[in-house]
Amino acid sequence: MTQATKAKGVGHEHVCSSMSRRGFLILGGSAITVLATYGSGAEAQDLVSSSYVRKVIGKVSDLEPGKAIAFNYPTDDIENLLMMLNEEAGGGAGAARNIVAFNTICPHMGGYMGEAEFKAQHSVLGPCPLHLSTFDLTKHGMIVSGHAVESLPQIVLEIDGDEIIATGVMGLFYGYSQNPSGA
Ligand code: FES
Repeated sequence: MTQATKAKGVGHEHVCSSMSRRGFLILGGSAITVLATYGSGAEAQDLVSSSYVRKVIGKVSDLEPGKAIAFNYPTDDIENLLMMLNEEAGGGAGAARNIVAFNTICPHMGGYMGEAEFKAQHSVLGPCPLHLSTFDLTKHGMIVSGHAVESLPQIVLEIDGDEIIATGVMGLFYGYSQNPSGA
């Protein structure tokens, strides 16, 4: 048994010895409820959306799995990455629903995550170079590890023939009290 396992065992025994079995079960139920509430909150943040003038930001024919292409949207100083995933994604565009785009600035404290942080084999962006947050690109940029508590802003995409068109943003860009009014 490792030191860590021993420490957990001691803590568990302490909890069990200081409350009834019923109380322990109620506490367990509360913890699950907190996680469920947090999950709903993260999804609710994804529902905060901003619409912008439609802008062609790339071509389907230029994409390939594992490759990320930088583009600016909705203003010239906001950088995002356009990516084709190996699997279907929430908000994914195209016939396979696997074309996605996300902002490059970590919602924790503004770390930059560029093409090097795109891990196509896991469909994630990260870890962030500052505090290692990593974001699931198949689940609207939801945090999967690290310090961030908000999802990565996702660019809303449409496909028209070979053109990839950005139409808005789900989530709040880091450093903004509200998303910019547009280009
Ligand atoms: S700035 Fe990205 S994890 Fe802290």
